[in-house]
Amino acid sequence: MLRFLTSGESHGQALMAILEGIPSGLELTAEDINVELGRRQVGYGRGQRMQIEKDRAQIIAGVRQRLTIASPIGVLIENRDWENWQNKKVPVVTAPRPGHADLAGTLKYDFSDIRNVLERASARETAARVAVGAICRKLLREFNINIFSRTIRIGKAEDPSTWRLTAKEWARIENSPVRCLGRDEENKMIRMIDQARASGDTLGGLVEIAAINLPIGLGSYIQWDTKLDGRLAQALMSIQAIKAVEIGLGTKVASLPGSQVHDEISLVKGRGLAHTTNRAGGIEGGMTNGETIIMRASMKPIATLTKPLPSVDLKTGKAVKATVERSDVCAVPAAGVIAENVVAFELARAMQEKFGGDSLREMKRNYHGYIAQSSKY
Ligand SMILES: Cc1cc2nc3c(=O)[nH]c(=O)nc-3n(C[C@H](O)[C@H](O)[C@H](O)COP(=O)(O)O)c2cc1C
Repeated sequence: MLRFLTSGESHGQALMAILEGIPSGLELTAEDINVELGRRQVGYGRGQRMQIEKDRAQIIAGVRQRLTIASPIGVLIENRDWENWQNKKVPVVTAPRPGHADLAGTLKYDFSDIRNVLERASARETAARVAVGAICRKLLREFNINIFSRTIRIGKAEDPSTWRLTAKEWARIENSPVRCLGRDEENKMIRMIDQARASGDTLGGLVEIAAINLPIGLGSYIQWDTKLDGRLAQALMSIQAIKAVEIGLGTKVASLPGSQVHDEISLVKGRGLAHTTNRAGGIEGGMTNGETIIMRASMKPIATLTKPLPSVDLKTGKAVKATVERSDVCAVPAAGVIAENVVAFELARAMQEKFGGDSLREMKRNYHGYIAQSSKY
């Protein structure tokens, strides 16, 4: 079984992740993880923190001579900002920010300093989750499975184009400061972020995630918590500030007739049994159906505003403005990268459940056996 835990505060010494269940024999270096950590840090609209931190992973357990050895993989990411905070008098925070974990977390854990909450609730934690995702991606690539994402919307600026997941498109998205396919739309998104920054406001948006080359039958209809759509939704919803997740047509299914929602099945030359469309977004009955998985995740605007919203000081009970922390104006492009990586974990987990294997060799043998068995036509 694949499972992981993360630990670490935003300005603590380091973030940590322990990932258990990766089979032996997978080639893995810190650089594999650093690539994903670097992608998470870019994007127009991020705050100063991203210039201070250049995240680097250290693999401290589970790998010998560049190969996984089936024991839990330990990853450490130092917080470069930690040293700066050691010599600094850090003020106690008492004015909770609306839209953050501040109020509920402080009451729940009986704190007198909101910083105890925000240090862990912060999306800095996602660096550890991306490290885990990066390892999972490495495993998935052994089976030719790849995951992509792009920004569809930032505030009111939308990119309505469809993508065909070509190498050219991917290069364009990766080089875009907002991770968007269309150039005009990119400019609009950048303008929206500039306007929000100038007016002391923040913005959210929408990202789309695609996972390709999945075998049919990952996940299961057998039990509620084995359904892959539910598991992927949980993974995406657990990213800070994600407030809605869609699969395939998503919310559109509520208003369309069945004939325009379901995907016809036919025998497609070279592919065997396949669907003629992919409105379901690659999942039916809680299982992969052989088509590309398509998901979208909506992110709310960042909760720390430089023009802060009204709040109440928890120490004095007086009406005050919410605390202002150093903050991003928009983190939608980063959310796309994080989304890819949390999806990678969930898909690797489903692959591991289906094909098992203590070693990569064994897992591949099981995989190829199943592919041969299920390719009847
Ligand atoms: C990549 C990323 C970066 C974020 N950066 C900030 C930030 O700089 N300031 C902030 O207030 N919230 C930021 N957030 C959002 C908060 O972490 C999130 O809104 C908060 O933890 C409350 O959780 P909830 O929105 O899921 O309810 C960020 C989220 C993500 C995914």
